[in-house]
Amino acid sequence: MKEQLQALQQEALAALDQADNLKSLQDVRVRILGKKGALTDIMKGMRDLSPEERPIVGALVNQLKDDFETSFSARQQELQQRAIAARLASETLDVTLPGRRRVTGSLHPVTLVADEIVEIFSRLGFSVAEGPEIEQDFYNFEALNIPKDHPARDMQDTFYISEDLVLRTHTSPVQIRTMLKHDPPIRIIAPGTVYRRDSDLTHSPMFHQIEGFLVDHKVTFGDLKGILTHFLNEFFGTGLEVRFRPSFFPFTEPSAEVDIACVICGGSGCRVCGRTGWLEILGCGMIDPAVFDSVNYDPEQYSGFAFGMGLERIAMLKYGVNDLRLFFENDLRFLKQF
Ligand code: PHE
Repeated sequence: MKEQLQALQQEALAALDQADNLKSLQDVRVRILGKKGALTDIMKGMRDLSPEERPIVGALVNQLKDDFETSFSARQQELQQRAIAARLASETLDVTLPGRRRVTGSLHPVTLVADEIVEIFSRLGFSVAEGPEIEQDFYNFEALNIPKDHPARDMQDTFYISEDLVLRTHTSPVQIRTMLKHDPPIRIIAPGTVYRRDSDLTHSPMFHQIEGFLVDHKVTFGDLKGILTHFLNEFFGTGLEVRFRPSFFPFTEPSAEVDIACVICGGSGCRVCGRTGWLEILGCGMIDPAVFDSVNYDPEQYSGFAFGMGLERIAMLKYGVNDLRLFFENDLRFLKQF
């Protein structure tokens, strides 16, 4: 039996050595010490031993168990360590790799231009106002001195939602909404989206305008000229040549269109300004007494001016963009440049 035990011990230790993972190590333990294991088998023979031999063999069995446990633990630890090392190696983080940057967006050129115009007028004491894009006929036309049969309705081909509701064709209805809510003095700058049934290379059915107006006692056309000239010089650069041309709008009298010296050719004439040297930049005028009537302002007491301009056009001139469609296609390669 001694030899059997010695042989088993050798076999067990060799098996532990060979086990190359924790699972097969556990299998070795079951094979040697388990209920149906090799040691149990041998111990069955102890019944046949003499009483003198039994304690000696018993001690050997215990010794074998102890030795096995010690080797088992050592091997188990070794394999665990190896498993951890393998995991660490396969999950290494290379902290020297460059990080992934978050892509940041940029403001749309039309937003940039609107923000800058608002800022310039804020410094002159103007506050921002806004109005709805779906507008009642009254605010978009009627109160602005454009009655139902007025040919000026054709100037701005309108998207009708119903008999009484339109997509606003300009930001001028904000004038009416503001004046109905507040008494003079008022100084308002109102950016917003507007809509017209117009779509070709230079017209989009949706575009943006910014409206400005001021009402107080004794406001004159000279005030209008002064403020707009100041604004255009702030926006396009000091020394810019500006001219006022007589024009017509139903809600202003007198009315004017403002031109600036072409920002592309400096006034000598090019394709962009149609060889005239001038670029039309905005419409303006003194608020018509008929408009004051519809908001219950006394035209004898108050006077005021209003102006409106297209933001896409201004953005094109400011940034030298030659195609209106670029503003609406939202190609990131275009938008990222601003
Ligand atoms: N609302 C006019 C337009 O859309 C612009 C304008 C505004 C003209 C205010 C005069 C005064 O063309």
